[in-house]
Amino acid sequence: MLRNEIEVIAKKGFDVKSVRNDFPLLKRMVNGVPLVYLDNAATSQKPQTVIDSLIQYYTFDNANIHRGLYFLSELATDQYETARLKVKEFINAMSTSEIIFVRGTTEAINLVASSMCRAKHFKDGDEVIISNMEHHSNIVPWQLMGDRKKIGLKVIPITDEGELDLDAYEKMINPKTKLVSVVHISNTLGTVNPVKKIIEIAHSHGVPVLLDGAQAIPHIKIDVQDLDADFYAFSGHKVFGPTGIGVLYGKTEFLDMMPPYQGGGDMIRTVTFEKTTFDDLPRKFEAGTPNIAGGIGLGAAIDYVNQFDRKDLVIHENSLLEYATSELLKIEGLKIIGTAKEKASVISFVIDGIHPYDIGTIIDTDGIAIRTGHHCTQPIMKRYNITAAARASFTFYNTLEEVDLLVRGILKVKKMFA
Ligand code: ALA
Repeated sequence: MLRNEIEVIAKKGFDVKSVRNDFPLLKRMVNGVPLVYLDNAATSQKPQTVIDSLIQYYTFDNANIHRGLYFLSELATDQYETARLKVKEFINAMSTSEIIFVRGTTEAINLVASSMCRAKHFKDGDEVIISNMEHHSNIVPWQLMGDRKKIGLKVIPITDEGELDLDAYEKMINPKTKLVSVVHISNTLGTVNPVKKIIEIAHSHGVPVLLDGAQAIPHIKIDVQDLDADFYAFSGHKVFGPTGIGVLYGKTEFLDMMPPYQGGGDMIRTVTFEKTTFDDLPRKFEAGTPNIAGGIGLGAAIDYVNQFDRKDLVIHENSLLEYATSELLKIEGLKIIGTAKEKASVISFVIDGIHPYDIGTIIDTDGIAIRTGHHCTQPIMKRYNITAAARASFTFYNTLEEVDLLVRGILKVKKMFA
């Protein structure tokens, strides 16, 4: 696609220049030049409204929640619970009791692994199906459960393009399969997995499914009821909210049978030295003082995203993906890792004879921020026989000009190594 054709699409329903004004950090200079932030898969920048919500909370509204009968405590509680309601609506959960606030996707998956093991959902010899494109946060928690139960991990293979082999997946399901836990959008390959189909197949065998939605949540509209996901995990900071706050969505039938993940204040009904009874959902899973400001900030991030028609954001991001892909592929010796038909705006690449760390370090001098390394997906690196890759990840506030700067930066690196 020609650049000007893409520009027309990009500008159609969406004014990227005005959107960028909402993000103060994007105006920052780095190494004497304007920042070009292309590491959105690692974390997104925050709109002023999210930053303001944190300042407002700590300046005027700070108090502990669920505990005080005084004005400020009730105000803070109300704001935190309003944020839960916003999350519920954002992902179309049935009820706020299905929204558990956690630190992030990693904690959400650890919660499910740990609690389901204790719930006797698993017995020795049972299996969890994951895939070859999982982030370490959807591999290691299952391995850690080996201390409690001998759980086997079955791994769905991926094709050279970076798509899941669904035939192999279906054949893997057997009476020992107790959970399928797969990534919705790969942080390294950008692949958008056919999760609805994956869920349908698992459910036809009576197996529940957890989706790691860390990368999907900022890119596409999530409807957990339409997907029929049993669990959905995501992090606030990837969707323009603060770090240290995330969400585990779970269907009530599962959350009800799962025991608490951690014990402490705010999750109990009665405590004696002999016995403790637990609070209802979602508090049963929220021991201790939570990240109150983080929850409120996540609510502000959701409000921010909700002001857009999500279709406009997708069109803009797709145009960045298409343009960047075609421009990068013009660079001799550059290979893109992950060429699935359905992709989000994440491009991992390697260049013959140049280590990704060198690419990242050199273009940083031009203010361009990309991630380099294994991206917490070492099994993907092994699958493609590489040790590391460079990765540019775009979101709706990125521009075609930034793609040009990335390409120019990489050409400069190539020249230095020629
Ligand atoms: N999971 C994040 C990434 O892909 C940190 O960069």
